[in-house]
Amino acid sequence: PPPGWTARADVVIIGSGIAGLTTALRLREHVDKVLVVTKDVLNAGSTQWAQGGIAAALSPEDTPEEHEVDTLVAGAGACDRDAVRVLVTEGPDAVRELIALGTKFDLDAAGELSLTREGGHHRDRIAHAGGDATGAEIQRALIAAVEAAPDIEVIQHALAVDLLLGDDDGVAGVTLHVIGEGVRDGVGAVICRAVVLASGGLGQVFSQTTNPAVSTGDGLAIALRAGATLRDLEFVQFHPTVMYLGPESRGQQPLISEAVRGEGAFLVDDDGDRFMTGVHPLADLAPRDVVAKSIMKRMIDTGRPHMWLDARHLGAEFWERRFPTILATARSHGVDPVTQLIPVAPACHYASGGVRTDLDGRTDLPGLYATGEVACSGVHGANRLASNSLLEGLVFSRRISKVLPGELGPWRDPAADRRTAGLVPGSVRRTLQEAMTSQAGVLRTAAGLGEAGAVIDKLAGVTADQVDQDSWETTNLVTISAALADAAALREETRGSHWRDDFPDRDDEHWAGHFDVAMTDGVT
Ligand code: SIN
Repeated sequence: PPPGWTARADVVIIGSGIAGLTTALRLREHVDKVLVVTKDVLNAGSTQWAQGGIAAALSPEDTPEEHEVDTLVAGAGACDRDAVRVLVTEGPDAVRELIALGTKFDLDAAGELSLTREGGHHRDRIAHAGGDATGAEIQRALIAAVEAAPDIEVIQHALAVDLLLGDDDGVAGVTLHVIGEGVRDGVGAVICRAVVLASGGLGQVFSQTTNPAVSTGDGLAIALRAGATLRDLEFVQFHPTVMYLGPESRGQQPLISEAVRGEGAFLVDDDGDRFMTGVHPLADLAPRDVVAKSIMKRMIDTGRPHMWLDARHLGAEFWERRFPTILATARSHGVDPVTQLIPVAPACHYASGGVRTDLDGRTDLPGLYATGEVACSGVHGANRLASNSLLEGLVFSRRISKVLPGELGPWRDPAADRRTAGLVPGSVRRTLQEAMTSQAGVLRTAAGLGEAGAVIDKLAGVTADQVDQDSWETTNLVTISAALADAAALREETRGSHWRDDFPDRDDEHWAGHFDVAMTDGVT
């Protein structure tokens, strides 16, 4: 529909987690009008839910070089080395800046940052807050800073629908669907000189995910429809230890942080066998893909829907102090981790791929930048290292805010929209999620991916009879599922989080490169 209202801003930032708000807070010093739009309320995205923490070489015993090695090993040969170098060398300063902003991380008895360990790390380098509520504390501090900066305008309940492009395919604006009560209600357009995508991930492509309901891949789909390139979509990370709530449970599921294993918890099967022993030198703290695969294999071999996490020996006092959120959540689902094993199974957690960017967050469209989970700078490769995601959001948003003011382009006139895609209804979402989970999830085969592709094609042909947020989100989920399933079918090897039952080995000779997805060319 034609826009019912219009507004202007120099830069529009889509998303309000660590990436979006960091970009806004730094850009405001150099750009006249910064507008943040967010689909729900400011803290509804994934940042709020992050438990384990934020990784950086902050201890005197640690170095960025060691962090770099752990990141590259976890990424299974698919990381961009320059991007990783940027992440680990700029990471410590970026975290210090977050502390200066008011984020209160947990301290040890000597008053120094308390640092813990998670899967794939060879050093204690994960800073955490509130025990296991790191994301909530970071989000709180960022929102407080944004609220204290009246020159940053925020529109909540504003779904970004599509980019408006000029004749040169540069950014001219963005269309929004706002559920508001004031003048900005319904579909409107913001004319702007640059857009920063910071809209998070795609967890809702799958039936079970640690991601909140808002993670519907909107930024990825918007970028794709506008002609930007996506990369590494097949590398979707499944977190190994997500609390199993029964076969009918759908949507966001409770995460049991890797930090619980970092503090000594271990995995067992129904017979009490510690099945991670001997699989990897780091055993229960092996990189995430190794642990998720071992759990899945044991589930398949034993025909059980989940395995168990044993953390009883940590004791009540430790649980209450160190993991209060997880303790309360587990108890609310009828499991007391102090006295009982926690049922766990892998669930979708993080998109390692995304909108392809350079080291300063530039995409291949003039005026379009991307940062955080929606972006793919190459820092995660085939499997993100634990607690590198909050760090990525911080580091690359700082870099965007350094270059963007100096390269702000002209105000462009929006050209006629050539996109023709129709909307699919929200009613197809569950069928899509079931197909993606069973055929394009943690374990993949050519036949299964073909079946998923057939379901996606069929659903893409169903037409919505009303234009609402559910149909826009579901359309985005269908678009991204198609690209993800295509990329997963093309990669005939097992690497990092991409696990092909029919091609079980890593094959550096044939598959060391990347798959790029663009609307005009498909997957290449
Ligand atoms: C966790 O706390 O286990 C999640 C950390 C992450 O996703 O990096």
